[in-house]
Amino acid sequence: MEKFEINGGKKLSGKIEVSGAKNAVLPIMAASILTKGKSIIHNVPGLEDVFTMIKILKYLGAGVKFENKTLEIDPSGINKFVAPYEFVKTMRASISLLGPLIAKFKRAEFSLPGGCVIGSRPIDLHIKGLQKLGADIKINDGYIIANANDGLKGNYIFLGGNFGSSVLATCNVMCAAVLAEGETAIEFAASEPEVVDLADYLSGMGAKIYGTGSSFLRIEGVKKLDGIEWTIIPDRIETGTFVLAGAITGGEIVIEKCQPYHLGAFWEKISASGITYDVGKDYIRVNGRPSWKALDVVTLPYPGFPTDLQAQMMAFLSLADGVSIVTEKIFPERFIHVLELNRLGTNIIRDGATAIIRGVKNLHGAKVMASDLRASAALVIAGLAAEGKTEISRIYHLRRGYEDFEKKLKNIGVEIKTLEE
Ligand code: EPZ
Repeated sequence: MEKFEINGGKKLSGKIEVSGAKNAVLPIMAASILTKGKSIIHNVPGLEDVFTMIKILKYLGAGVKFENKTLEIDPSGINKFVAPYEFVKTMRASISLLGPLIAKFKRAEFSLPGGCVIGSRPIDLHIKGLQKLGADIKINDGYIIANANDGLKGNYIFLGGNFGSSVLATCNVMCAAVLAEGETAIEFAASEPEVVDLADYLSGMGAKIYGTGSSFLRIEGVKKLDGIEWTIIPDRIETGTFVLAGAITGGEIVIEKCQPYHLGAFWEKISASGITYDVGKDYIRVNGRPSWKALDVVTLPYPGFPTDLQAQMMAFLSLADGVSIVTEKIFPERFIHVLELNRLGTNIIRDGATAIIRGVKNLHGAKVMASDLRASAALVIAGLAAEGKTEISRIYHLRRGYEDFEKKLKNIGVEIKTLEE
């Protein structure tokens, strides 16, 4: 297995280009099977999760080519509606194929996705939404067995759960509803930019979806969809990760090919910390400073503060002036990064779904272990500011969601090496 070795404590400066959004491309790849026509998808990041989704699509019978950030998916040969455990266990986001498979075959057999380090990942809302559209769904021996022999029919669906909206449940229900008979209304839909990108892709294929970007979607079912050419939106979580990487070192970095307006509450918090930045149409310049204020941060569904930037923000706040409080309202267990960050000298204590971060004067390099995609990014951010050498093992977690991460970090002046563990 590989590890990063980072020599931290330096001000960063330079430019990076953000890649396409992981959480947009995965549901769009799943939705591409809804038609017999080919889809050509541009700005696709070379991530482990994308390669996993390619494997699953090929297993189902699709033809897939991926080069120079462009995916060509030919779903005409798809002849399977089973998603086996071997695939689903490696990537929970494969659940975004459930809705498209039921819409396409009127049936699906799908391994139940496991939990993960950020908490239990129920799929009750996915199942409720698909049942409301007429799918008969049973759980047998760890598999979701879905049948919709009479086809799917439009319905009113309240899709909110105890933690608010669900991104992939909204994606699944939307993909099933676009080919259902009649009209569907989804109340309490997720409105993340990635969900909007999927809705826009489906509309481009001929779907009739109204209200995208809001929590109330109206969908008129159509008979068929056509394959189209599409370009994935920039990855807002990668963007926020690099903003914090620049800010924690007091440096000035320019983040290009991004979409600044997809980061709602994140900018509110960055401004409140005293960090200044210039925003352009597709770039951000972060003007680092030697100190910043402590903050209270609560993660919420979009446009609230993104849970996928919670760990990275925690690393940044570990060096703030004062005491910060971070409350995780989406995944209350999402604190696996706390103990590893404390190995680097942070002073963080967890109390349930809340963490208290007492700002310290400096961090010091240490050996730490990556455990989850965004927790690993937090360790990198802390390592950039820590005096001396930080070794981060199990960096395969990072490759799931950050394309060319080492190269991009070097572009902004980070002394980093990838070594065999
Ligand atoms: C998506 O996961 C993202 N993954 C996650 O990013 C992200 O953290 C999450 O949305 C929240 O923004 C992809 O898009 C591939 P949810 P998803 O359903 O859709 C509860 C990353 O690092 N819930 O929006 O699985 C759930 O437990 C990953 O890139 C139910 O109760 O998340 C959570 O508390 C990590 N029942 C809340 O809803 C359900 O049926 C939001 O989860 C489904 C979800």
